[in-house]
Amino acid sequence: MTNHDFGSLGLETSHDWIVERTGIHERRIAQPGQTTCSMAAEASRTAMERAGTNAGEIDVIVFSTATPDRLLPATAVDLQAELGAARAAAFDISAACSGYLYGLTVAEGMIMSGAAETALVVGAEKMSSIVDWKDRSTCVLFGDGAGATVLKRTTRGNKGILSSFMRSDGKLAELLYRPHGGSTNPFSQEVLDGRSHYVKMAGREVFKHAVRSMAEAADRALDAARLTGKDIDLMIPHQANIRIIEATAKHANISMDKVFVNVEKYGNTSSATIPIALSEALESGRITEGMTVLLVAFGAGFTWASVVVRF
Ligand code: ACO
Repeated sequence: MTNHDFGSLGLETSHDWIVERTGIHERRIAQPGQTTCSMAAEASRTAMERAGTNAGEIDVIVFSTATPDRLLPATAVDLQAELGAARAAAFDISAACSGYLYGLTVAEGMIMSGAAETALVVGAEKMSSIVDWKDRSTCVLFGDGAGATVLKRTTRGNKGILSSFMRSDGKLAELLYRPHGGSTNPFSQEVLDGRSHYVKMAGREVFKHAVRSMAEAADRALDAARLTGKDIDLMIPHQANIRIIEATAKHANISMDKVFVNVEKYGNTSSATIPIALSEALESGRITEGMTVLLVAFGAGFTWASVVVRF
């Protein structure tokens, strides 16, 4: 779906406005019948094939999504059934756009503790199902997509996850949230008529916090790995807005030629942005053996997180 397609929805917006404020040119929208789980399954199969892993080897599925297919049970168990990962424990993580990095950190902890040998960490989102297509200030920003990673114990020193950082601030929850439709105000005709089950966002406030928190997250993971921006071969930030990405890179002293950007093509796919970008960076040869990569995210909650990985 391109920026020009919003005209046919009767929204007063323009390609130039969207590009200037966000860097987004187009986004992917799931077809009828495509679900968060089906997108996740496709990404997971590709990840397992690349890792030489079969579904029976997976001990745990950590599934980040803000758009579960159903509210009960977790979408992770639907993915488990779809993949035939019969031995796996499967659960969802709800940390919005930071959820994939939360998932990586939880899976790493399970592997380090001996609770798991092989983890499947997924970020998958059908944002088109929760944005208000009558609200131009939000619907132009988001898109659908999925990415997945197979995580295993490494025996090679100084490779893999070098450091990670996670933080939240629930006092700011109402700056980016879905007011109703949960158990406090269950779904009703009133909720439907008021469109209060859709995403509401105070864009300018979110922007300020995103810039501040992504900068902090970058610092904290770099410090913990005893690295600086100069040691980073590639930064993969959450893809919400090119201006937030540029501010984060500048703060971390990483030049934009070392920053992976694909927000123009997908918009904000919430917790799927980083695994999609990781996949594209590996496919295009922007990540090669020995490189040190900084992953940084910020999302609703607020939540923010970062991970340094050596490939
Ligand atoms: N097209 C045209 N005009 C629009 C649109 C649109 N799609 N949306 C809003 N406007 C108008 C507003 O109504 C406002 O008009 P007004 O001045 O007459 O009231 C004007 O544009 C400016 O609006 P602002 O909100 O001040 O614009 P801003 O420069 O802040 O850009 C944006 C808005 C792009 C949403 C920006 O605030 C932003 O990127 N915020 C961060 C959002 C984000 O990235 N969220 C996700 C991060 S967390 C996560 O990923 C879950």
